[in-house]
Amino acid sequence: MCGIVGVVGRGPASTILLDALKRLEYRGYDSAGIATLEDGSLRRRRTVGKLANLKSRVDSEPLSGRIGIGHTRWATHGRPDETNAHPHMVDGVAIVHNGIIENHRELRNDLKAAGAHFTTETDSEVVAHLVSRERKKGCEPVAAVCKVLPRLQGTFALVFLFEGYENLLIGARKGSPLAVGYGRGEMFLGSDAIALAPLTDIVTYLEDGDLAVVTREQIKFFDVNGDALDRASAKIAISGVAVHKGEHRHFMAKEIHEQPTVVGQTLAQYIQPNGTIRLPRGADVDFSTISRLSIVACGTAFYAGLIAKYWFERYAKLPVEIDMASEFRYREVPFRVGDVALFVSQSGETADTLASLEFAKTHGQGIISVVNVQTSTMARASDVVFPTLAGPEIGVASTKAFTCQLATLMCIAIAAGRCRGVLSAKDEIALVRALADTPGYMARALELEPKVLEIAREVSMAGDALFIGRGTNYPLAMEGALKLKEVTYIHAEGYAAGELKHGPIALIEKDFPVMVIAPSDSTFEKTMSNMQEVMARGGRIILLTDQRGASVAPPSAWSVLVLPDMPQSVAPLALAVPLQLLAYHSAAILGTDVDQPRNLAKSVTVE
Ligand code: G6P
Repeated sequence: MCGIVGVVGRGPASTILLDALKRLEYRGYDSAGIATLEDGSLRRRRTVGKLANLKSRVDSEPLSGRIGIGHTRWATHGRPDETNAHPHMVDGVAIVHNGIIENHRELRNDLKAAGAHFTTETDSEVVAHLVSRERKKGCEPVAAVCKVLPRLQGTFALVFLFEGYENLLIGARKGSPLAVGYGRGEMFLGSDAIALAPLTDIVTYLEDGDLAVVTREQIKFFDVNGDALDRASAKIAISGVAVHKGEHRHFMAKEIHEQPTVVGQTLAQYIQPNGTIRLPRGADVDFSTISRLSIVACGTAFYAGLIAKYWFERYAKLPVEIDMASEFRYREVPFRVGDVALFVSQSGETADTLASLEFAKTHGQGIISVVNVQTSTMARASDVVFPTLAGPEIGVASTKAFTCQLATLMCIAIAAGRCRGVLSAKDEIALVRALADTPGYMARALELEPKVLEIAREVSMAGDALFIGRGTNYPLAMEGALKLKEVTYIHAEGYAAGELKHGPIALIEKDFPVMVIAPSDSTFEKTMSNMQEVMARGGRIILLTDQRGASVAPPSAWSVLVLPDMPQSVAPLALAVPLQLLAYHSAAILGTDVDQPRNLAKSVTVE
């Protein structure tokens, strides 16, 4: 989603802004812009499309100045064109905004009635008008911003730059993340630590309702009443936010290959030397008193939650409700006070998931989260946080965060089973042993890459594809289809294998590609029958199975990908790898923008 940067610096602001925006590219965007103060006057450059376009514009029409703001826009209100790109400028006030001003229509109408002339279709432009109006009434910049913020409904991270103020940026946050970074004689603002690294390793994350007044010498925090606030800064490990592709062409490829390592790191937090699970200190949840667990997430994290539902029910005998965050609040869920809601998120900033978290809180649910970004809003808003240690995930299509979520969720399910007295010590040790072996299974799955590449050559030519599976292979089928459509734009659907004959089988014709996920687990035979049904209609089968499954599967699959035999409990983590590789290689063959697919955002900070 939209990325924000700001600098009150010593050197050329435009260079710093363009570099920092580059680091925010991963969030997904469709236009970009920067504004600086040249001898006290506001100047800006904006372009549609990739940052390379903005860079060439700035190269041909340079912007001087040591203070400035920049933005990558993911269009919500108004087309992705140059006019709607940020920064928006109105009479000496320039702003960049991430979020949605929900009452923008009403504010726009009021402003128009008072004579304001709007130049964009965006919700954000009202903010620039409102602040400039306060300035015209004689308010100093900080006072003007303080007057306007209470009028804004919805969510925002905002940064303001004022004509004539060479040493002042104002940042404000409600709902959308914003951080400030401390340098020597220079200060920065950014949507996240990735934007600020390598400029500084000392940052403060704004809390909701905070205003940051940023000059070269210091950063002060206030609330909208102008009362000073104390906000601690923290040192971030630059290595933790350093992002590079290594030997890979794309971040997605790098992140797929990192999985055995990062899943191992994640598991190491939970697995004890005696082969049992220990949840981190302070993370002990009393699962024995819970009657139901609600799992809520979006996108790939939702599919991780769906797989975990099978685990919580199987190993902890804990009833689970699972919802997409965008639906959760709109069902009339009868909560029991004291039950627990579990939120799964890579970024910890997904707007729908955050709104669901607040909703669950107001209904007396204990809040636990499985989150990759430990400084995120979600981590801070939860009673208990279970970290995933995937490291920064830059490819928009989630890969390593997904398998780290699965690893963590399995550990929690095991702990819950023990806490509820339904999982024996022997069974726990067997499950933990399987988990400990999982990075090895994933490494073996990566060895399938040459064969997956061959299959990708065929799949990349298809217009549609189906993925089917039963049990945990069903959510995995949906995740496999999601990966493929996200990065290749090929239409793909994931279906419960047994449900195929109730509709989708009508799609099958000669050579229609169907990926069958069927390791030799308790559902294997039934899935084989569904596979036969597809084959009988000419579908082209790509079978993803294990050695035992391959030895008994009907021989007529077009292609078979064979993983090592492994316990059913951990199979989803290894099976995910060839599905990710298939999506990746198909996209690379098609030449799509693998790491930043069209229309998608890494972290969706609007509802
Ligand atoms: C976006 C991303 C997905 C991600 C989803 C949830 O749609 O493109 O890859 O799974 O958001 O994000 P979260 O950060 O909450 O896991």
